Amino acid sequence: MADDKANDVIWEKRYQADARVAKWPFDLIVSMIMRRFSKVEQRAGIKILDYGCGGGNNFWFLKREGFDGYACDIAQSALDITERKIASEGIEISSDRFVLIDGKTLPFEDDLFDAIIDRESLCQSPWIQIEKNVQEFNRILKPGGSYFGINFTDHHPDARYGRYQKNGDWNNFSQGLFKDQGHRHLFSLNELVGLFNENWEIDSIREHSLKTVYSGPERLSDREEISEYVIVAHTKNDGR
Ligand SMILES: C[S@@+](CC[C@H](N)C(=O)[O-])C[C@H]1O[C@@H](n2cnc3c(N)ncnc32)[C@H](O)[C@@H]1O
Repeated sequence: MADDKANDVIWEKRYQADARVAKWPFDLIVSMIMRRFSKVEQRAGIKILDYGCGGGNNFWFLKREGFDGYACDIAQSALDITERKIASEGIEISSDRFVLIDGKTLPFEDDLFDAIIDRESLCQSPWIQIEKNVQEFNRILKPGGSYFGINFTDHHPDARYGRYQKNGDWNNFSQGLFKDQGHRHLFSLNELVGLFNENWEIDSIREHSLKTVYSGPERLSDREEISEYVIVAHTKNDGR
């Protein structure tokens, strides 16, 4: 069963099969990044890490807008798809901007990035690792650097299809969005507030939910429900 496999194996298989790779950047990522950096004239001087870049949809937006983007993922195939997408646009980028990670540490120097974007990637790790990942985010961000995260909430409707483990960790989803996708961590609000406590300041946490309330009978499988927390936080300027 897929859930017995490590997360990197599951994602590698998905990308090799080219299953549902998102093509376009997500609007929330676009609006958060542009709200923060649109007035910066020298965008090439702004280093932004796309944590868990997937097929490069958000990364493509970063590069198109002229930022110095870095893409990392635990699946080599995701990085390959991302690299091909960028090359097909004729955008020049050095190959050291595509970084395979092990899901435990981030192989970047301290204080390197102005920002990290994370859309549904932190929730791929179990809670015990998530706490360490967030410390790593803090280490590699410059003082005052921003984290823009979008991750599923603990009241996501598809939680009902999963098996609860402990500490907000779930697996063995029998249907819905997370089926055959291994493990997920579904965040509570308190958890998020606690996670971005020491050495961080939280700017905002918003809840984003979406629910299909009508669809034609032949489109029942297109029905969609989603619940995610959108967090903006920055590292403290001192005490790190
Ligand atoms: C739901 S996809 C999101 C991809 C992309 N961020 C997007 O918005 O379309 C989650 C991504 O996280 C990656 N991933 C899984 N575990 C990870 C980990 N421990 N660290 C970083 N990325 C991870 C997967 O390979 C996958 O590309």
